Amino acid sequence: MIPKHLIRRLSRDRVPISATIELTHHCNWRCVHCFVVNAEAVPCAELTTEEVQRVLGELHDLGSFFLCLTGGECLLRADFVDIVRCAADLGFAISISSNASLVTESLADELVAAHVIEFQCSLLGATPEVHDGITGIAGSHAAAWRGIDILRDKGINVFPKTPVMNRNFDDLEQIREQTKRYGLLWMTSCLLFPRWQGDREIAKLRIGDEQMAELFRMQIRWSEEENLDHDEDRVPDEEATSQCGAGVSTVTIEADGSVTPCQAYPTSAGNIREAALSEIWRQGAVFEELRTTYDQACTSADYDGPGANWLCPLFELREAGQGEGGAEELLRFNRIRLSQIGEDQGSARK
Ligand SMILES: C[S@@+](CC[C@H](N)C(=O)[O-])C[C@H]1O[C@@H](n2cnc3c(N)ncnc32)[C@H](O)[C@@H]1O
Ligand code: SF4
Repeated sequence: MIPKHLIRRLSRDRVPISATIELTHHCNWRCVHCFVVNAEAVPCAELTTEEVQRVLGELHDLGSFFLCLTGGECLLRADFVDIVRCAADLGFAISISSNASLVTESLADELVAAHVIEFQCSLLGATPEVHDGITGIAGSHAAAWRGIDILRDKGINVFPKTPVMNRNFDDLEQIREQTKRYGLLWMTSCLLFPRWQGDREIAKLRIGDEQMAELFRMQIRWSEEENLDHDEDRVPDEEATSQCGAGVSTVTIEADGSVTPCQAYPTSAGNIREAALSEIWRQGAVFEELRTTYDQACTSADYDGPGANWLCPLFELREAGQGEGGAEELLRFNRIRLSQIGEDQGSARK
């Protein structure tokens, strides 16, 4: 892990410390919440092997260190292993974001050889009923666990993630038990990104206020049980705003070569097929905007703790105007999170 002060320094120097390459829009699952537009619905001119290799070189020259390979389902690409090998040769700390259903023994051996630091995968329910209901694919729960088993047996650090929605909320304790039994770290998040401008359909999947409050309480309890450091250990600064590093210390190359601040953020700063990545990264308009708000947010307290206000520019962009005061979902998230952290610290002091 890079110390926070170094991340701040590199961010100020505008180094894209962490890069994501979205290798494809194809996927073998059809998750109800997915923000990726499946290539079968809208064809996408994916980067070729040579283009991906070139962009890896450009990222390396820009000083990127962490690399996430994702999709769609990135394991569907026939050249996936070649790409991983190229990234490893350049010295990237590689993480893979995949649904794990297509993992084989030989692929896992390649990932070990490339010293992959983390294999993130979606775990959407504790049972096939819930999980497969969300993915729309019968057998996907079993396939994901088969993949996880193979990876774990090879000693690869598997990191399941559960986007929390009303369809899997009741499964959370059980998923925690399952991942704990396997000795896996596990992450939950209830921030479901809007998939298009003014997306109101996603709201139908979101958990309500009560469930969100309960989720924060569960997250605090789980972290305490694991002795994990968590933001809630420190009093959030009510004046401070935190903004993620999208466009400041992180960059995404989308499947068609568009360069964006993060995979879910739809505004392109340019395309690596038309301009050098360094030029797009330094001069792209969307990056300029995000850097301005980031500097304001983070220098307001030059601060190291949790901000009471979490700012996600994606929500501002896609949900602003839908309710009172702009990005309603983000306001709801911040309000409920703060109230639960406050209660936790109040009871800890008693
Ligand atoms: C786009 S997927 C690609 C990797 C792989 N196919 C998978 O599902 O793990 C990366 C992550 O984004 C999450 N995700 C997809 N749509 C989302 C949304 N609308 N809001 C929040 N997370 C989302 C997925 O659940 C997954 O954890
Ligand atoms: S597996 Fe990943 S990319 Fe595929 S539909 Fe689900 S969330 Fe989207």
